[in-house]
Amino acid sequence: MPATMLQQVAEDLHVFPGAKHLPPTYKDPISNPPTLPEAQVSDGSIPIIDLEALHGPRRPEIVKQLGQACQLQGFFAVKNHGIPRPTVDSIFDTTREFFHQPKEERMKFYTPDPNSDIRLMNAYKDEVANVYVARESLKFHCHPVEKYVDKWPTNPPSFRKSSAEYLTNVRRVEITLLGAISESLGLETDYIEKKLGGHYVSLNYYGACEESNLELTYGVRAHTDPTIITILLQDEVPGLQALSEGKWMDVNPIPDTVVVHVGDLLQAISNHRFKSLLHQAMVNCEKERMSIASYCYPSSDAMIGPPEKVDRQ
Ligand code: OGA
Ligand code: NI
Repeated sequence: MPATMLQQVAEDLHVFPGAKHLPPTYKDPISNPPTLPEAQVSDGSIPIIDLEALHGPRRPEIVKQLGQACQLQGFFAVKNHGIPRPTVDSIFDTTREFFHQPKEERMKFYTPDPNSDIRLMNAYKDEVANVYVARESLKFHCHPVEKYVDKWPTNPPSFRKSSAEYLTNVRRVEITLLGAISESLGLETDYIEKKLGGHYVSLNYYGACEESNLELTYGVRAHTDPTIITILLQDEVPGLQALSEGKWMDVNPIPDTVVVHVGDLLQAISNHRFKSLLHQAMVNCEKERMSIASYCYPSSDAMIGPPEKVDRQ
């Protein structure tokens, strides 16, 4: 699609995201909220949580901030997360190199089996909704690393080392956050941690916009994540939007932070005090964009629901 058309599409999306070409009978509970005509880009700000301060005397204050961010916004940024800068640079370099390989090399990981331990998902056209969804992603299980590492790509050669290093770091951040989130709900620190099972990651690649004869192009369409929390590492190219008080808000990258979303399962654990975040990603006309989404799941035998202690507020 030419840049000018994309500009027009982007402008339309800001006024009336996603709704333009849906037939009047189309029912999709997920896309209903953002198709409200009054939806527009909000200029709200992103709450920033200082992870380091959770380990010191300010912990009760930070726990309270976290609880408020989960309740009011459904997402927040985390600074001082302790993931070394070279580890972050290296997972992005690896992701870029993986997606820049010839299609045959990437397609070695394509499978229609949703239960596969590793899976490439391609961009696709939804002819019914007249939408092009531009994201290509490599999704794989990653905890414990030793159990899954042999399934991961060996091209580029840095893949396994860079991924293991980043994912080990992100798991530590996740456990720290879940402890504080449990406390913010008045639960034992390890309440959510005890329910944890695996960990799944999605290396997301959004190429600079391509030609498409369809009306709308998204990076990824509006959805909530079926997780406890999602930790999203974005590169420096904007694209993520979150629904905040009925309006889409740009969640632009803030250097040296990660973004955390409340997922469907935390919404259930919190008895709907925390809201699962509806979010989407836009494509960029000039630049490719990458993000690394770490999905935190319970074990398959964990019971998920509100503990008696958690009242809806
Ligand atoms: C996801 C997701 C958004 C982004 O991977 O679940 O919502 O900005 N990604 O890449
Ligand atoms: Ni998501």
